[in-house]
Amino acid sequence: MKITIISVFPELHESFINTSLVARAVDAGIVKFNLLKLSQFCPVKERIDEPTCGPGPGMIIKPELLQLAIDHAQDEHGPGFKIFFSPQGQRLDQHMLQKFAEKITPQDTSKTLETMAQNPDGHLILVCARYEGIDARVEQEYADASISIGDYVLMGGDLPAQVLLEGLLRLIPGVVGNEQSVEQESFKGPFLDHPHYGLPVEWKGKRIPDIVRSGNHEKINQWRQEQACKKTLLTRFDWLRTQSLTDAQTDLCKQQIPNHYVALLHSQIRLKDNESGHTSIASLDIHDGARSCATYGIENYFVVSCLKDQQKILQTFLQFWHSEEGKKYNKSRYDAVAKLIPSPNLDHVIETIRQKEGQSPLIISTSAKYHGHGQVIDYHSQGTVWQHNRPVLILFGTGLGLADEVLEQSDFLLTPVAGMSNYRHLSVRAAIAIVLDRWLGLNKKLSM
Ligand code: 6GU
Repeated sequence: MKITIISVFPELHESFINTSLVARAVDAGIVKFNLLKLSQFCPVKERIDEPTCGPGPGMIIKPELLQLAIDHAQDEHGPGFKIFFSPQGQRLDQHMLQKFAEKITPQDTSKTLETMAQNPDGHLILVCARYEGIDARVEQEYADASISIGDYVLMGGDLPAQVLLEGLLRLIPGVVGNEQSVEQESFKGPFLDHPHYGLPVEWKGKRIPDIVRSGNHEKINQWRQEQACKKTLLTRFDWLRTQSLTDAQTDLCKQQIPNHYVALLHSQIRLKDNESGHTSIASLDIHDGARSCATYGIENYFVVSCLKDQQKILQTFLQFWHSEEGKKYNKSRYDAVAKLIPSPNLDHVIETIRQKEGQSPLIISTSAKYHGHGQVIDYHSQGTVWQHNRPVLILFGTGLGLADEVLEQSDFLLTPVAGMSNYRHLSVRAAIAIVLDRWLGLNKKLSM
């Protein structure tokens, strides 16, 4: 396999290709590097860059130089797969690396370097920009892929090219000695890697977990899976939720996060003059709330009112839906409503959870507005809450929202649900569905 690196500063890549596993891959003939310095395609005394057209600062590498460099690389080593580097590119991930590796690795691994050189896919051309970057037309003309390595700006594409190579070369057979260590890593499946330990058994007062040294391989593997899953949930839930999970992996995730509860309040509701008041129970909120809760794996859906007549309405409803008749009428509705618990007030909700779980829940309040109680969290803060290993209770207010006396008890406040409009009058049953989806929803990304 041939790798051409086109750069203003090819010397940046010299120690990279002459060190460690990359050097070994070169020595073994698995890969051959071809460093091209852009200025070698530029007439002496001329600059390689020009000011950008239009207002604003910055310099752009002259398009003809890149054209000459790319033509030269392809004349010498055959047509190549051309990767450009820019913060505006597609963000590099393991899946992309895998695709690139497949592109440039001949399927028949017995092929020699000579036959690989004739294989157009066996030539990778990396184009590293500097200054403000590359003329948009050059990228349009040549780039087979445009890559960014993250959401920050570097001075050039040389380090990103090395990042890509570090990720790519280790996937090429023969580059890394131990194929197993390539097999079992983070980002291959939906979970990050589990923690690794080496001797001594105790270091700085920290012991290797006993299970790791128990010799029971089955138990160790299970422990590692759980650790990997938990770590991913706590630190990278945003990423995990985009992954394809098997049913067993979904179950494992559910076991590794604390149990969640939802309460819909019809008492302790804010009134116009900031007093605390009540709203009426509505059957749509009961049904739809219960179904949303069932969808997102909520343990119980508490419907709260301290008014006797409202409780009676709820009881009438439950008499049917908690009965054999209700079960026969609509089994899936029955299953959802089975998790509904009527409750007179928030203290009762908390006490019910405390008795089931052995500890009281952390309370997350939801509101269309910011308020001064509890730590403000967003829909990327699951790890912040889950790390406490305490059950979680999410509160929804009907009417004008939760009364101050409720908000004062909350540990966290979720940022208001917002779309591309200023309208802030979502129905509570819609809010339950949206908040649960943002907080617990899995949102699988199809791999391209
Ligand atoms: Cl590929 N280039 C530059 N200049 N900055 C970056 C990047 C690439 N990826 C993230 N930041």
